[in-house]
Amino acid sequence: MAEFRLPKHSKVKPGRTFPAVAGATRTKNFKVYRWNPDDGENPSTDTFEIDLDACGPMVLDALVKIKNEIDPTLTFRRSCREGICGSCAMNIDGTNTLACLKPIADVKGEVRINPLPHMLVVKDLVPDLSKAYAQLRSIEPWLKVDTPAPPDSERLQSKEERSQLDGMWECILCFCCTTSCPSYWWNGDRYLGPAVLLQAYRWIADSRDERTGERLDALQDPFKLYRCHTIMNCTQTCPKGLNPAKAISKIKQLLVERQG
Ligand code: SF4
Ligand code: SF4
Ligand code: FES
Repeated sequence: MAEFRLPKHSKVKPGRTFPAVAGATRTKNFKVYRWNPDDGENPSTDTFEIDLDACGPMVLDALVKIKNEIDPTLTFRRSCREGICGSCAMNIDGTNTLACLKPIADVKGEVRINPLPHMLVVKDLVPDLSKAYAQLRSIEPWLKVDTPAPPDSERLQSKEERSQLDGMWECILCFCCTTSCPSYWWNGDRYLGPAVLLQAYRWIADSRDERTGERLDALQDPFKLYRCHTIMNCTQTCPKGLNPAKAISKIKQLLVERQG
């Protein structure tokens, strides 16, 4: 398996420059992080001058144009192009966000594009999310029950019970929040991070789940939960407008209440 690379921005060299096609009158520079595990070189930043009159409106459109028309080796994840799959998460203009939801027009000057910070890089803009997914598996994000379902209906919730999941079911697991969290940067091997903790609370808050106590027991740990210091980067960066810091504080509150 290829060695993955933690980006060291101080070592990122200026890379190649690809000028716009002749005759382009409305252009913008895209500075894109590049690293290829197979060439033995340090990372670099390539500059692509894009003709905005021949490009869609979003940053993802520019990346697709670069890949299709300029450099087919540029590597990034994307699927839905409408903010649903979470795969195009990256750092654009200094903020973690989704390339498909980020209008090019919102970026003043050149568009700087880097992989999600503080994750190992597989290639170019593709982060290695295997640790984050292992952490997600660890909170067992599925309904756990002992009581059999009613024979003639699904497991029903009242409107009020269902509303407790609002602000959590919308999470698309893009990990923009987790990779913006300083506590996760320094303790990501043991701190679960905001995305996974939001998912943990999503199941704790589900009226149908019968393992709430067990789920809380698993989080009563100095590192998994309590490395959150309410810095709020997570909530500020979430491209879906969710509030992982609030979910984390609700878990802490439940832990205090059951002690009292
Ligand atoms: S509120 Fe907690 S999870 Fe969110 S960025 Fe701050 S430390 Fe990280
Ligand atoms: S809470 Fe927001 S930023 Fe975090 S993983 Fe979910 S959608 Fe992405
Ligand atoms: S491509 Fe699916 S969220 Fe951007």
